[in-house]
Formats: sequence, structure tokens, C-alpha cells
Amino acid sequence: MPPSSMAVERIGVLGSGDVGRALGRGFARHGWDVKLGTHSPERLQDWLGEVEGAGGAVSVGSFTEAAAHGDVAVLAVLGEAADVLDLAGPENFAGTLVLDATNPLDFSEGAPPGLLFCGTDLLGERIQASLPDASVVKCFNTVSTAQMVDPSFEEGAPPMMICGDDAEGKGRTEVILVELGWPGGLDVGGIDSSRYLEALVPLWAIVGAKRDTWGHAFAVVE
Ligand SMILES: NC(=O)c1ccc[n+]([C@@H]2O[C@H](COP(=O)([O-])OP(=O)(O)OC[C@H]3O[C@@H](n4cnc5c(N)ncnc54)[C@H](OP(=O)(O)O)[C@@H]3O)[C@@H](O)[C@H]2O)c1
Repeated sequence: MPPSSMAVERIGVLGSGDVGRALGRGFARHGWDVKLGTHSPERLQDWLGEVEGAGGAVSVGSFTEAAAHGDVAVLAVLGEAADVLDLAGPENFAGTLVLDATNPLDFSEGAPPGLLFCGTDLLGERIQASLPDASVVKCFNTVSTAQMVDPSFEEGAPPMMICGDDAEGKGRTEVILVELGWPGGLDVGGIDSSRYLEALVPLWAIVGAKRDTWGHAFAVVE
């Protein structure tokens, strides 16, 4: 919880699946005022009951309402996210730090997943191109929902790998990550590096299936 003298920070979470709910609950636990955006807000009433008293205020609304809720947003939807960004209204992201957790995973041939597209631009770059007035930082996409907030690793949490074009946005992301229990971020470059952060995820799934462990993360060691 933030000290009472600090302004409560607001975050819009676009997506109400496993990632959206984990991050919504996690940010609320750290005192943030959270609005979850979804196609069907009425389906989230039970979840709202579960997170009541988590810490900060939590509410549910449309994608537009979530995008307009604060100057930080999380993108946590399936697919290319383009239709959700259209529904939310790209103008609602002007000046917003968008933490992009999405991966273009293709489960059409089962597990482990492949990538819906790869080699050139991946989702982070497409999302930044769709939201030219926002600062998009790829974040959270290489870890499981259980580890996204207050991570717990036997050998200590590694810095979260992030990338984005805007240095200020990445700096703010690092501050947020520390608040959420991470040692910080590992800056792996501009938003064009999202093609590599997203391509790590099928490998993450293969490692998980081989070891039957789903709380792992990749770390850079020296
Ligand atoms: N699960 C993980 O451990 C994990 C970890 C890191 C990153 N990710 C990535 O985070 C994103 C969300 O994953 P998730 O596990 O939360 O998925 P999920 O539980 O299946 O949730 C799906 C979310 O995507 C929305 N959605 C469903 N179909 C859609 C479509 N065709 N176009 C746009 N949005 C659609 C849903 O909308 P409604 O809210 O209206 O139902 C819901 O918010 C994915 O890109 C995934 O690769 C997942």
C-alpha cells in the first residue's frame, strides 16, 4: 500500500483472462486503483467479489474505459490485439505508458505453441505502430501469471526483460517492477526487440513441459 500522502496511481488493464486478472489483483494488492477492460464486464462480477479488499480499488468496464482510466495501461489480450485497440480507441492511449504482455502464440497444432507470425515485426512493434502517441514497453510476456507480481524464485528473481523505444517509459516501467517485487528490468533495446522477447515464449513452454515446472524464467548470468 502506498503511504497515505502519496496519490493513488491508476492503471487500466485491457484483458480479463489469466494475465489480466493476475495483474489486476497484483496491482490492487500494491495499492493501485485498477480498472479491468473486457468485452463482457458482466462476467467479471464473481472476480470482483474475490478481489474486494485486495488493497486498492478494483472495477470492471469496457476496453475504452480501461484505456482512459490512468496514464498506465496493460495490454493482456489474445491474438493481434488490433480489434481491442480499435475498440478502446487509440486516442485514449495518448501519453500512456502501455505495458504490453501479449504474445502471438499459435496453438493450432497443440502444445508447445508456435508463433502466429515471426521473422520481421512482432506484436510489440505492431502495437507501438498502432499507438503512436503512447509509450509501449514489452513487459511481463516472458513469465507465468503466478510470477508476474511478487515473484518467488529459489535463486532470486532475475530482472524482467523489457524493451521499448521510449527511455522515460522504460524508466517508469523499472520503477513499477521494483514496486511489484522485481529487482528491476533488463533493458534489451527498442520495441523492435519484442520480436525476440516474444519468440522466447515457445522455448519457455518447451522448457516448462520438459521439466514440468511453470514458474520458471530466463535469466542472463555472467
Ligand atoms: N497465461 C500466461 O501465463 C501468459 C504469460 C505471459 C503472457 N501471456 C500473454 O498474455 C495474453 C493474454 O493471455 P491470457 O492467458 O490471459 O489469455 P486468456 O486467459 O485466454 O484471456 C483472453 C483475453 O483475451 C481476450 N480475447 C479473447 N479472444 C480475443 C480475440 N480474438 N482478440 C482479442 N482479444 C481476445 C479476452 O477478452 P474478454 O476479456 O472480453 O474475455 C480476454 O481478455 C496473450 O497474448 C498471452 O500470450 C500469457
